[in-house]
Amino acid sequence: VGTRVVLGIETSCDDTGAAIVDETGLILGESLHSQKEVHLQTGGIIPTVAQRLHRENISRVVQEAIDRSGVCPRELAAVATTVKPGMSLSLGIGLHFSLAFVKEHQKPFIPIHHMEAHALTVRMLEPVEFPFLVLLISGGHALLALARGVDDFLLLGQSTDEAPGDTLDKVARRLHLKSHPDCCTMSGGQAIEYLAKKGTRHNFLFTTPMGQIYDCNFSFSGLRNQVSMAIGRKELEEGVKPGELLSCVNDIAAATQHTVASHIVKRTHRAILFCKERGLLPQRNPILVVSGGVASNTYIRETLKILTDATGLHLVCPPSKFCTDNGVMIAWNGIERLKEGRGILPYTEEVRYEPK
Ligand code: KG4
Ligand code: ZN
Repeated sequence: VGTRVVLGIETSCDDTGAAIVDETGLILGESLHSQKEVHLQTGGIIPTVAQRLHRENISRVVQEAIDRSGVCPRELAAVATTVKPGMSLSLGIGLHFSLAFVKEHQKPFIPIHHMEAHALTVRMLEPVEFPFLVLLISGGHALLALARGVDDFLLLGQSTDEAPGDTLDKVARRLHLKSHPDCCTMSGGQAIEYLAKKGTRHNFLFTTPMGQIYDCNFSFSGLRNQVSMAIGRKELEEGVKPGELLSCVNDIAAATQHTVASHIVKRTHRAILFCKERGLLPQRNPILVVSGGVASNTYIRETLKILTDATGLHLVCPPSKFCTDNGVMIAWNGIERLKEGRGILPYTEEVRYEPK
């Protein structure tokens, strides 16, 4: 092994991920176990179920990543693990496993902030220099920040209630899209995007959230309520039985997707203006990085592209594999911290990490 290598471990939500990445950003080995199937059955994540599945899979996933990499634990420079934010029961499994692992192999430990990892992943793939603007939109988060350094983020806005992916998942459930023949295996967001392509958004007019609030925060629960009420009215009108599909699902999907996109773009526009006014972005090649599961939505990406073209920013979206949760982004964050020498807990007889 020529350069330093880090083992990254992710268990903050519903993916058990592990990967070994080197300093050049080469992925030497990775493994990912998704719990999506199980949570789709129960119509949402039950924390104790997620915890049990992480516990059942963590050793195998880490071992697989190590085996595939051909690196032996002795050669690792450090172990990096997500410690926050996320579901505490799930995080606990990754943390517990990692602390035992670093103790056994006498390795330094690097606690990782999940959102920092999402924001930095792009730098493993492309030469993106600090500072850059980052928009994270997923099932768990909506966040706008100025990334000024590996552990230096200026938070510009976040969701005051739920995340856009969560909203899309809930709307999809309210529309009973699981009984739609084309959509039964898709995530809520994917299903909405798929149906929206076949519908027209003009038959439903939803108000873009926070129109009168002039900051960069997000809110999606009010929109979900609007959509839910519209669905209720249509169900009465069409006299559909519970669980049956409405005739206008495509139009509702299109209007919902459009309003989510409109809200995201308006808040991002304000963040861009804020940064420009204060000279916080570089004159040459200012960049907006967009990541998270919702970033794989083509309609939302295209709307953001119109915004970045109009404001002179360069839009960078990592491929969807790198937008969603995995061990790779955690390992890469470990590499970034190793290079800067920041936030590394050296090996001691009794490795401790107390989540704050
Ligand atoms: O980042 P992610 O895999 O998990 C976390 O939230 O951490 O994101 C999953 C979310 C789900 O809510 C899913 O509905 C949404 O991303 N999503 C999409 C699309 N694909 C996945 N939302 C909109 N359009 C998509 N094509
Ligand atoms: Zn995530």
